[in-house]
Amino acid sequence: MVNKNRFHLSTSAAESYESQKVPAIFSPMAERTLDAISLPTRATVLDMACGTGVMAKAVSARLSEPSRIVGTDINPAMIKVAQENTPSNQHKFEWIVAPAEQMSIQDSQFDLIFCQQGLQFFPDKKAALKESSRVIKTGGRLILTCWAAIPPFFQTVADVLERHVSLDAAKVAVNPFIWNNAEEIQELISDAGFTVSSPIQLSVTRNMSASINAMEEELLATPNEPVLRSLPEEKFSLVVTEILHGVQKYKQEDELAMPQLSYLFNAFKH
Ligand SMILES: C[S@@+](CC[C@H](N)C(=O)[O-])C[C@H]1O[C@@H](n2cnc3c(N)ncnc32)[C@H](O)[C@@H]1O
Repeated sequence: MVNKNRFHLSTSAAESYESQKVPAIFSPMAERTLDAISLPTRATVLDMACGTGVMAKAVSARLSEPSRIVGTDINPAMIKVAQENTPSNQHKFEWIVAPAEQMSIQDSQFDLIFCQQGLQFFPDKKAALKESSRVIKTGGRLILTCWAAIPPFFQTVADVLERHVSLDAAKVAVNPFIWNNAEEIQELISDAGFTVSSPIQLSVTRNMSASINAMEEELLATPNEPVLRSLPEEKFSLVVTEILHGVQKYKQEDELAMPQLSYLFNAFKH
């Protein structure tokens, strides 16, 4: 039975995440988020559930004075890739393997906490938000994004996986997107000690090559990697071909440009 709540990746999947998913969606997502908020010139920053550190790195490029930037993630493979790709700029980076629910960080450390597409994966969301409330300074800001709906691409992937692989694999494909009730998220953030208003919605475009190779890599850089690797070659080819067929309408020349809608919460610690 697949545990849908966990996001475990092997080292090779973390490397594919950095080389495929970061440029395709998480880097544009980070830039869209930073365009939508105001930033100081220096800040102590936490990137919670940082993955390979895309948000930490994007923020660092926009802070003009030396700052302390910390990234935490439960997944050692993600932190390893983050560490290996630490920018050599004026800022002091720290990468820590830690669950969001218990980060082993002192109280009241941060001016800004970012959590980009992480909250939906935490087994104990309340504890994770309480923990962010503990490590942020009074008056600090929590900037949190969470997908607002199942994007058309992942609905197509799920439909194909359900037809040819299993219902569990289909559920894993849409898992990052199904926990998307804005009022529930707002209430959780508020209960953790933040002042938070309704989210703004950001539409981000996922860009990827429309080639068979790119689609294979995309599918293998997910928690479905083991189940897909265990398929007979012809079955995996059929899955890839049907997904590419299903997203034809997003094809522009050799590229796919597919929309994804996200909530952006901007919360203040009181
Ligand atoms: C979709 S990725 C987003 C990563 C990164 N924020 C980004 O924008 O690329 C979700 C991340 O949440 C992490 N994660 C899942 N559960 C976690 C937990 N309980 N505590 C900390 N990180 C967790 C995963 O390891 C993964 O790196």
